[in-house]
Amino acid sequence: MSDEKIDSALPQVLPPLPYANNAPDPVISANTIGFHYGKHHKAYVDNLNKLIAGTEFADLPWEKIITKTAGKADKTAIFNNAAQTWNHTFYWRSLKPKGGGEPPAALKHKIEASFGTLDACKKELATAAMAQFGSGWVWLVLDGAKLKVVKTGNADGPMTTGMKPLLTIDVWEHAYYLDYQNRRADYVNAVLDKLIHWGFAAENLA
Ligand SMILES: [Fe+2]
Repeated sequence: MSDEKIDSALPQVLPPLPYANNAPDPVISANTIGFHYGKHHKAYVDNLNKLIAGTEFADLPWEKIITKTAGKADKTAIFNNAAQTWNHTFYWRSLKPKGGGEPPAALKHKIEASFGTLDACKKELATAAMAQFGSGWVWLVLDGAKLKVVKTGNADGPMTTGMKPLLTIDVWEHAYYLDYQNRRADYVNAVLDKLIHWGFAAENLA
């Protein structure tokens, strides 16, 4: 899966977007990407670097920083910034200009075995996105042999629970407010129909 690619980005630098700023337009505008990637994601990386400078976490991959600080009250700031750095890197890769459509055959088969149909899977992702109160993330994950949809609050992700993330959608307001105002469902459904990168999820399944 993409862990190796993310690891290779060390030391802590903002990984390049996998496409041009304006490529996901009009589903997500270049203006939103400019703020979301150029300000929010960059700030998580910058904050993380400040927080870990000279500490035991300075040379660790993001995944290690996340698992070592999860649930520790005195390490909340490091956890939040490391997790948000990782989550956003994973989110950009979960999208692709002219995405959506049909998943690769092996993933589609697995989706049908777990949810019945692709539409049922998409519906569950959209429902979870709406059910997440406040800021957070929805994820398609591999849990044992089954695919599942899970939602997490704030910076949390599924990796600290043993489930393997396959793709994610950011449902923090900063992900959609400039384009959709408070219409989170419209943003999520547009992403699922037109941007979601099933190929990336399929790679992560392997
Ligand atoms: Fe975000």
